[in-house]
Amino acid sequence: MSEKLFFPINHPDYRYPVSKNVYWGKLQGLGRTVFCDQQTEAFRGRARELFPSNPSGALTVEIGCNAGHVTVESAVQSPQQNFIGIDWKFKAIFRGVEKGTKKDLKNLVFFRAHAERIPFIFGLGEIDRLNLYFPDPWPKKAQMKNRFLTAERLRVIAPLMKSGGLFHIKTDHRGYFEWMIQAIQASLDCWEVMSVNEDLHRHHAAPHLLTFPEVTLFEKLFIKDRIPIHEIWLKARV
Ligand SMILES: C[S@@+](CC[C@H](N)C(=O)[O-])C[C@H]1O[C@@H](n2cnc3c(N)ncnc32)[C@H](O)[C@@H]1O
Repeated sequence: MSEKLFFPINHPDYRYPVSKNVYWGKLQGLGRTVFCDQQTEAFRGRARELFPSNPSGALTVEIGCNAGHVTVESAVQSPQQNFIGIDWKFKAIFRGVEKGTKKDLKNLVFFRAHAERIPFIFGLGEIDRLNLYFPDPWPKKAQMKNRFLTAERLRVIAPLMKSGGLFHIKTDHRGYFEWMIQAIQASLDCWEVMSVNEDLHRHHAAPHLLTFPEVTLFEKLFIKDRIPIHEIWLKARV
């Protein structure tokens, strides 16, 4: 039976359907390196318990982390901080877990989850920094309702941030960028705009030489194709 007959994804009582994805099985029993679906909501308000060796470290969450290229390198470079990478793709998350495990990172956890569930995954004031890099642009008019960043979502996310917490956004898609700016303008009571850059690497002599975590996997491709990267930094007013 389809999950759609039950609660919509942004409803508190939404339940993930049973998955037949082969990587769902591979993600089970891997201990505290990865959590799947409903399990990702068991630590709401207690995310720091996921990092027993570093419970007071600042928490960075990356939405749409894919196979964890940025999250893993960030965790390597900042061992005193904690990182959670979220993506809805089972295989991508599995690849991220493999990388993190090889490097024996204790400050990194992956969540296979729908990003729309973020208010059910994190509690108030839990996130020190949030990263959203190259979210799917859903360019067609009929698809735009699927875009992750909306004014409503910015309002939902703000209370999850620590006071003064930063939200870092990058996109290559001009239409989505303009949509984001409109959404931000409608939520300025929750977020302060720290900076907006419409061509992030314009003054860089050799942007193609930039490495993770300064650039993402998709960003490397856009740089190669000389597509300008739009960047926004927000600060939570909560
Ligand atoms: C265009 S890719 C960008 C990946 C990565 N951030 C980068 O810059 O290389 C978008 C990523 O977001 C993930 N994604 C899209 N919608 C999502 C959702 N609703 N919940 C979780 N992940 C999502 C996709 O699986 C994909 O890995």
